[in-house]
Formats: sequence, structure tokens, C-alpha cells
Amino acid sequence: MAEPYDLSVIIPTFNEEKNIAAIIDAVNDIFRENSIRGEVLVVDDDSKDQTIPIVREIAGRQENVRLIVRRDDHGLSQSVVEGFRSACSDILQVIDADFSHPPELIPRFYEAIRGGADIAIGSRYMKGGDIEAWPLARRVISLSATAFGRVLFPEVTDPVSGFFAVRRDVVDGAPLAPRGYKILMEVLGRGRWESFVEIPFVFKNREEGKSKLRAGTVIDYLRQCGGIAWFAVAHRTGPVWAEWTKVIRFGLVGISGILVNMGLLYALTEVAGLYYLVSAAIAIELSIVNNFALNDVWTFRSIEFLKFGRRFSRFGSFQAVSMGGLALNMAVLYLLAEVAGVYYLLANLAGISVAFAWNYMVNRHYTWTK
Ligand code: GDD
Repeated sequence: MAEPYDLSVIIPTFNEEKNIAAIIDAVNDIFRENSIRGEVLVVDDDSKDQTIPIVREIAGRQENVRLIVRRDDHGLSQSVVEGFRSACSDILQVIDADFSHPPELIPRFYEAIRGGADIAIGSRYMKGGDIEAWPLARRVISLSATAFGRVLFPEVTDPVSGFFAVRRDVVDGAPLAPRGYKILMEVLGRGRWESFVEIPFVFKNREEGKSKLRAGTVIDYLRQCGGIAWFAVAHRTGPVWAEWTKVIRFGLVGISGILVNMGLLYALTEVAGLYYLVSAAIAIELSIVNNFALNDVWTFRSIEFLKFGRRFSRFGSFQAVSMGGLALNMAVLYLLAEVAGVYYLLANLAGISVAFAWNYMVNRHYTWTK
């Protein structure tokens, strides 16, 4: 396809009569100021207010503005995917109509993709990012959704962001199954990409109109997460699969550590005749060494930037995290068993789960990192 534009800005809308003209103006100003040949694609879900006539009027006098009105399969994600399909450029930017995403950042997304990234993600949860004026309930819902999303994409700080740009190849022909609000999760889960960058931004609560987020959106989201996880397992490729392979390996290494620990505790106490607490201390330390060695050469071996020379500092970090995990395990065991009266073996199982999650997440992000 001959690309008449360098950038397509997709704006999904539903009842945005108070914002739409202003956001189109703002995006066009950005194009002008930054010499970007850009188009604006408004994908509307048959709004009941004046959004459609307003955009129609603007599109009638501005060649680079187009309106798509959808009548079936109402939904934010579906609309964005329709925008991907109709866009006339190789770089696709998604932005809300209500100014909760600052349009002045668009050139940074554009440059990030031109600079080689497959996906550029606006993040509220990295240094420099923030959310202005959200009620507590909305913050809690958003943080929970983000935490859930990060189980699938641990390296992405804001996988549910609605402000992002992608290279067309990422989504062209990808088996996206858009539902609900979190289109970025779909792109991350089923798109074809290798690299991403994150761009911090401050999410502003809309001043005009209201959010269309509903309880059903949460259910859609949970189903979507399940679908992405299942897709990863079925196809055994992609970032989710790569991450979960690490989680499973980390778990198997943990089990090997338990065997080393128990074997040594027995051997040192029964065969070497050491006092059992001394044996236990040695057994714990050697099982930490065992786990570190296996994780370093197996679980995280695909991280190609790992340097042998930095192995000691990685070990120091792993050791500290393991001690933290041990403390967490004990704390959960104590609280559940002593305070809540839970049977101690069950309480210990909960303690082990919390320690496992802690050990994996912290090591993944701090020990085996760039
Ligand atoms: N076409 C279409 N169809 N557009 C929709 C629909 C729909 O069903 N629902 C909402 N939109 C449009 C709105 O008109 C607006 O431009 C944008 O999508 C965001 O809608 P809001 O309802 O204001 O979203 P929000 O503020 O609750 O959620 C935002 O933040 C989330 C992260 O917390 C969005 O950016 C989400 O994408 C994001 O996940």
C-alpha cells in the first residue's frame, strides 16, 4: 500500500460531543508543529449524542480526518482494531478522546517507533507517570487490573494503558480477539513484537462526559486474561509463554532446593552427627546456592545480557531476596497459625506461596535484570 501518511492517530469514541472537536484540533496542531504527515481516524460506536455530526462536519473540510461509524459489536477494543485495519500508515497511535492522555506526547511515541521499538506504551506506573484526581475506588480497580496484567507481562509497568503506539506489522494479521477495554493486553498477548519502550505520562481525569467503564468490563478483562494465557500455552511462543516458562522453571528449581535442603539436613544430622539446627542452617544456605546456580544457568539463561563476571553480585542479590522470602514465609505462617488459628501445615503452604511470589518477582526484576 502506498502510505500517504506517516502516522495514524486512532480515537475511539462513544458519546464524546464535548471533547471530540477539541481533541482533533489538538492532534492536528501536534502534526503541524512537528511536521508529521498524520491522519486522524475517529472510530465511533454509533454515539447517541452529537459526536457523529460534529466529526462528519470536520471530516468534510479536513482531508486528513476520517470517521468510521460502527453499528454492530459495540466495544472499545473492537473499535480500536477496526481503526488498525482502516489506517493508512505504518505507525498506529491510540488515544482517548477525553484528554486523559496528553496529545502533546504523541511525537515521542512516533519517534520511539521510528527509532525501532515495535510498541510504545504510555505508562502511569513508571517514574514520571501518575494519575490525577481519581477516586480511591477507581485507583484500586486500576491497580488490581494492572497487577493482574503484570502476571502475564511482568516487564510492562502499565499493560492496561489505553495510550500506546504500535508498528503496523505487530497487529497486521495477528489473531487479535478484541473484547472489553484492554486492547493493549490483546496486542501484547497476540501481536507479533519483540521490543517495547515505555513513556511516562500523567493520566488526567476527564473534565467532560463520563467514563464508560462498567462492572461487565471487569468480567471481560478476566476472560481476556484467561484467553491470552491459553493462547500462549496453545502456541508455545510469544512473551507470555517465555515468561511462564521462567516461572515454571523457577518453581522446579525451588522444588529441587527443598530436596537438597531435606537431604542435607538428614545427612548432616544423622550421618555427620551435627546438632540439627546447625545442620538446618548449612542445609538452607546450600539449597540457596543450589537454587541460584540452577536459576542462573537454566531458568534465566535466555537473558542474553547476563554476564558471567556479574555472577557474584547476582548471587548477593539472590541471597538477600531469599532471606526476605524466608522471613515472609515465617511471618505468614505465624500470623495464620497463631493469630487466625489456621492449621499449621495449611498456614505454611500459604507462607510458601507468598514467599515464592516474592522470590520470583523480586529476582526477576532485580537479580536477573539488565
Ligand atoms: N468506539 C468506542 N466504543 N469507544 C469507546 C467505547 C466504546 O464502547 N467506550 C469508551 N470509548 C472511548 C471513549 O469515548 C474515550 O474516547 C475512550 O474510549 C476512553 O473511554 P473512557 O470510558 O473514558 O475510559 P476510561 O477513562 O474509563 O478508561 C481509560 O483508562 C483505562 C486505564 O485505566 C481508557 O484509556 C482505557 O483504554 C484504559 O484501559
